[in-house]
Amino acid sequence: MLEFTEIEPCRRAVLEAKGTGLRVGLVPTMGALHDGHMALVHAARKLCGRVAVTIFVNPTQFAPGEDYRQYPRTLEADRAKCREAGVDILFTPDVQTMYPEAPQTMVHVAGLCDGLCGPLRPGHFDGVATVVMKLFQILPADVAVFGEKDYQQLAVIRRMVRDLNVPIEIIGHPTVREPDGLALSSRNAYLSPSQRVQARSLSEALFAAADRVRRGEVECARIQQAVRKHILAAGPADIEYVEVVDATTLERLTVVDRPARICLAVRIGGTRLIDNVPVDPPGVVG
Ligand code: PAF
Repeated sequence: MLEFTEIEPCRRAVLEAKGTGLRVGLVPTMGALHDGHMALVHAARKLCGRVAVTIFVNPTQFAPGEDYRQYPRTLEADRAKCREAGVDILFTPDVQTMYPEAPQTMVHVAGLCDGLCGPLRPGHFDGVATVVMKLFQILPADVAVFGEKDYQQLAVIRRMVRDLNVPIEIIGHPTVREPDGLALSSRNAYLSPSQRVQARSLSEALFAAADRVRRGEVECARIQQAVRKHILAAGPADIEYVEVVDATTLERLTVVDRPARICLAVRIGGTRLIDNVPVDPPGVVG
């Protein structure tokens, strides 16, 4: 595995790999790698002859007061996982390398950031879009793989790539879950044992809601209400939102009349968790 902390040698390594005719797959991460990340690596491996992973806890996507300092940093363990998974290129820059001066250019994807997590995490998606765009310049890969757990992030990146003609294919990978359904997330490490038990109510509520839709429920207000009720029955939680949105535009729906996503953000204790599931209008095979 080739490892880089500097931009130019990393770019050269990617270009050299492409020069030999191999496709390069990129998996951008903030580290604290878990099986969800490794599934993205394996997906990239299936599609490409070379796989590159980036690990960078990006300060510009954390709003003031969020968990930037506290965010788990486990570089040694992450490196071992990458090596074991056969990653070819690992890029682990520091903040000074990525942002030698405060950026005056930021990428803002309008519209898609207006709902869901957007208003609750001001500037978050600008920080994500900007750092991902920088990573696409530093590692000019053919394919980039992102998890569907961060569904709004995936939609924002897809749109950015389309609007700005970035020559990279974006692949969304289904959410990887614990055996009890909890979506894998680096932030699950913040949960106490009892909060961890409570947290499974999120996926349970989403799966039950998807089942209701399969059985004919199309009224979003009723679907959202059932999800809230299920989560609150499991214990005290601060539900930031439960929304049914268009699967592509993320426009809020009142009726499930097209491919959609039920998305939620919930705080259990101090830990903010997000999750989502796909739903299709009843009668449509997804
Ligand atoms: O999903 C993440 O881990 C981050 O938001 C990303 C895409 C690596 C950008 O920092």
